[in-house]
Amino acid sequence: MCSQFQSETDTEIFAHLIQNALDKATVNSECDFIAVVQEALLPIEGNYALGILNVQYPDQLLFIRQGSPLIIGLGDDACFAASDIPAILSYTRRMLVLEDGDIAQLTRKGVLVYNSNGDEVQRPISTISWDPIRAEKGGYPHFMLKEIHEQPRAISDTLAGRLSSEQGRVYFETAFVPDDIILNIDRVLIIACGTSFHAGLTSCYDYERILGIPTSAEFASEFRYRNPILNDKTLVIAISQSGETADTLAAVDLAKQKGATVLSVCNMIESTIVRASDYVIYTHAGPEISVASTKAFVTQLVSLQLILLYIGKNRGILRKKELQTLTQDLLHLPTVASNLLSSEQQIQHIARRYAYAQNMLYLGRDIHYPLAMEGALKLKEISYIHAEAYPAGEMKHGPIALIDKDVPVFFIIHASSVREKVIANMEEIKARDGKIIALTLPQDEEVKRVADHVIEVPSISPHVDSILLSIPLQLFAYYVAVHRGTDVDQPRNLAKSVTVE
Ligand code: M6R
Repeated sequence: MCSQFQSETDTEIFAHLIQNALDKATVNSECDFIAVVQEALLPIEGNYALGILNVQYPDQLLFIRQGSPLIIGLGDDACFAASDIPAILSYTRRMLVLEDGDIAQLTRKGVLVYNSNGDEVQRPISTISWDPIRAEKGGYPHFMLKEIHEQPRAISDTLAGRLSSEQGRVYFETAFVPDDIILNIDRVLIIACGTSFHAGLTSCYDYERILGIPTSAEFASEFRYRNPILNDKTLVIAISQSGETADTLAAVDLAKQKGATVLSVCNMIESTIVRASDYVIYTHAGPEISVASTKAFVTQLVSLQLILLYIGKNRGILRKKELQTLTQDLLHLPTVASNLLSSEQQIQHIARRYAYAQNMLYLGRDIHYPLAMEGALKLKEISYIHAEAYPAGEMKHGPIALIDKDVPVFFIIHASSVREKVIANMEEIKARDGKIIALTLPQDEEVKRVADHVIEVPSISPHVDSILLSIPLQLFAYYVAVHRGTDVDQPRNLAKSVTVE
């Protein structure tokens, strides 16, 4: 007999299904209860992660996952369950990641895990090296500001032990894509969402320019809904801070079905995307709590540079001298990034001035265009100001109609072969009374002449400058949001991990 129930909440369906199954079954033991739960959930399609408590068995909690993340923390005298590591990091660093279909039984005695066949299984226990203090605000008013300031250290951690500047070599602690695949690939395809997509798009410029390999970046949420053409000569790089983004995960699965090799760039150990990929490079950003991604973004850019160097060396594209120079450039980053953070007050001042703008444009050309996209995303997600990014050369094809004295325009005009052309674009804005904030090289008198405000960012080398340029963009968005009084760390309508389509 099929019972009927009414509910306006999809999660309640689980409780009803389990109760129906219990009513019909003979449950004599805890094991029977686990089997009934597994059986009851069989008809469910889609992703879920559940915690289940039954009044008849008050001494145990069951946790089961399918598609959605679920980790179990193992403390000295307590166990924990959460959807991500930072949530329980202050209680324990020993974590166990459940596989799809697993059910974990938490009791006073500890944790037992059963697979979807009901067999008891052992899942590997990882010890997370993150310091729990790093998941707290540490005196900063917001996690976002703390995480912006942590970037020099996050960059150092991502580089640590991976570079030899004398040898011009890159080492990874996890198994990397083998040489026969590296030599065979004829294309790199980067898939990701949001900020991670911007890191991928930024790197495309260097992959094509330095490696000479056709490289493109795609929104994972679009990629999965067309019929992309890839094969065993395609290296797919999937970028994700959380490792749980549903669209990126689905894109990884699709790429693998089509025969591509999938390398993920991820911040979360043993996350679902990592486990679905063939290889992984971890960004060592540490826990990123603020919804707005900052240190994850810069460490993604750093990791993509490391991959570039590795491929460049192993395909024989980069010679030792070039590798040494590129390696040195990366190693300079933490110090220059630290110095850059000292321009915070000036950025705060400019942000206050434009905090009540209704619309803003972010413009750049070449590698600075994806950075403009990232600057606009940061601003809109935390300040709720409508911000759009355009390639500066596209202005005259429509968006220039928007310009007047009330639309501030943020230009990224740094070391690049198209600098002169961007100055011409700035003049076009100026002629229409637009207000200009320019992120530019120190002492660029020409830019200073046209712009209303200038934020100076030194150059190490064009292939690593994007990492530096992102810091003032983050600070600007942060201070605008603070002036507007929004909930900076937890902006409305957004979640840190987007585990649904
Ligand atoms: O965890 P992921 O890197 O896969 O997340 C992708 C996006 O949801 C994420 O980057 C989002 O755009 C950020 N909140 C932006 O700051």
